[in-house]
This record gives sequence, C-alpha cells and structure tokens, in this order.
Amino acid sequence: MLKEELTRAVNILKSGGLVAFPTETVYGLGADAKNPTALKKIFHAKERPIDHPLIVHIGEIGQLSEWAVNITPWALQLAHAFWPGPLTLILPKAHGVLDLITGGQETVGIRIPHHPVALALLNQFGSALAAPSANRFGRISPTTKEAVLEELGSSVDMVLEGGQCEVGVESTIVDATGEKPQILRPGMITASQIEAVIQQAVSLKTKNAPRVSGSLESHYAPRTSTRILTSEQLITYLQQFPKTDLPRVVITRKPLKLPHENITCIMMPETAKEYAHDLYRTLRELDKKNYQEIIIEALPSDPEWIAICDRIERAQHK
Ligand code: TXA
Ligand code: MG
Repeated sequence: MLKEELTRAVNILKSGGLVAFPTETVYGLGADAKNPTALKKIFHAKERPIDHPLIVHIGEIGQLSEWAVNITPWALQLAHAFWPGPLTLILPKAHGVLDLITGGQETVGIRIPHHPVALALLNQFGSALAAPSANRFGRISPTTKEAVLEELGSSVDMVLEGGQCEVGVESTIVDATGEKPQILRPGMITASQIEAVIQQAVSLKTKNAPRVSGSLESHYAPRTSTRILTSEQLITYLQQFPKTDLPRVVITRKPLKLPHENITCIMMPETAKEYAHDLYRTLRELDKKNYQEIIIEALPSDPEWIAICDRIERAQHK
C-alpha cells in the first residue's frame, strides 16, 4: 500500500467518511468509532438495522481500557494470546462508548485485526475504528477489494487493497462479560484453542442470540437458492432433474459422478483452513452465474469445521 493512499484513508476517516479495509478474516467497513455521524453512515451503506452493534477495531492492546472495563483475567489472557487475530471479545463497555456502537447494550465487541494494512491504518489513524463486514446486510462478506466494490459501490469513500483475506470467515466472537466464556459466533479460532489458553470450559451458544446479526438464521447468503446435502443424498437428488432443466452447481470436496452435463461440479480444498479461505469467494462467483440452485456437499462435524458449517447453514436459509 502506498503511503499516500494511507494518508488519504486517514483523512477520509478524520473527516467522518467511510473506508473499507482488509483484515485477516473479511473486509471491514470502517468509520471513526467516536464519531456518531460517521457511524450512522455505516448503517446506511449496509442497510443494516440501527440496533445491531458494531465491532470496535483497535491497533494495540493499550487502547483496550478506553473501550472496556472490568475485564476478567481470563478475558485479558485471551486478548494477549490471540490478538492480533480473528477473535472478538464482548466486554463490559467503558463509560461514553456510543449507543451506535453497542446497540444500546452495556457491552462492546473489540478486536485487533491481524493484517498489515488494517494495522497500518489503525496506527496512523491513532484511534479505534468501528467496522462491520463490508457487505450489505445479510449478504456474503467480502474477501477481496472487488467484492467490497460489488457490495457497496459508491456508498464507501475508499477501499484499501489488501489481497484476498487469509482466514476467509468472520472472527470467533466470545462473550467475556460473565464468569464463563461463551462462543456467540464460531470462527476459525476454536473452543479447544480457547480452552487450552484459559484452562476452563467454553460453551457454544446454539440458540439464536438476536443481538448478533450473524446469528440470524439467514445470513451470509447468496441470492441463488442454496441447499446442503450429504454425499449419499446428492446423487439421488441430482438424478431427478432432466438434462433440459436449468443448470445447477455442486460444491464438493471429492470428484462426483454427475448424471449429465447440465450439472457442474466445483471442487473445494480438503482442509478446513483452505476451505474457509475459498468459501465466500466461491459462493460469490457462483451467485453471478444464474444457476437454478447451488448445492453444497455437507461437511465434517469435527471442531475445525464448525465455523464453516455454521456459515453454509445460514447461507442455505431463505
Ligand atoms: O471478522 C470480523 O469480525 C469482521 C471483521 C471486519 O473484523 N467483522 C464482522 O462484523 O464480522 P459484523 O458487524 O459483520 O459482525 C459482528 C457481529 C455482529 O453479529 C454483531 O451483532 C456482533 O458482532 N456484536 C458486536 N458487538 C456486540 C455486542 N456488544 N454484543 C453481542 N454481539 C455483538
Ligand atoms: Mg457481517
């Protein structure tokens, strides 16, 4: 990234504009976390309900006390272990944190992203940036600069280039406001990685928490109708459609014997890490191709796949 670009981005943010920037998870739509006018622009650009809280991105751990209070020792341990990285901690908010950030709650979500462009931006800006994923509400999060432009176009003042996001799915969100940690949104940092750091059990919220927008049943969703089927179900399911039917596409991890050429097969990587990296980009590309349906082969249920299973299940809901 050019120095001049960074300066321009900081100037835009200081004057209350929106700058989308890369993080290791997905691209974020950033605004000055202390400027209510700028924050309102985020909700407008994303068409996001105003009571959905935003994640505060900070550049260094020293800024934490400006945003959160009564941080438990284990929450601090998590921050030290995983930041910069794909972990968001929900903490009791400090006095003065705007309702636009918290959705009117007493808590605030915070993380330090692990991406050189995000960190350079945060450090040069010198203060925190509120940044949800840079997509329209309910849609697939962008993992490239082009995807941000597709989603937001001219409603964002600038998009910083940072290549394709390394992780590919959103951060793990951990509620650290109580005595015990609870995962509100699974991500590529797993419960057992968290447990290994703090030596205590972590629960996973299964019921929908209404204040976590990513926990709505339909989210991260392509426009094309999407369905998950097991390998066994797949073949029988596909056989019912005649050759003359509209094209369908199957996303799988091993080669499939397809009934006819009107069904396309997209091969995804074997490992969870690589699958997550490619998932949103693949869904986004397929969504442009006017398929009748996107069919995703069901994934393993091992811990490292939980976040990916969560996202494809929400993609399937309409
Ligand atoms: O990886 C990520 O977390 C990305 C990158 C850009 O950092 N950001 C992201 O933001 O996914 P967003 O707004 O798309 O999703 C953040 C989730 C939302 O579902 C929001 O409701 C939840 O975090 N959240 C934020 N503050 C919260 C709070 N105080 N309590 C509960 N949930 C909160
Ligand atoms: Mg989002």
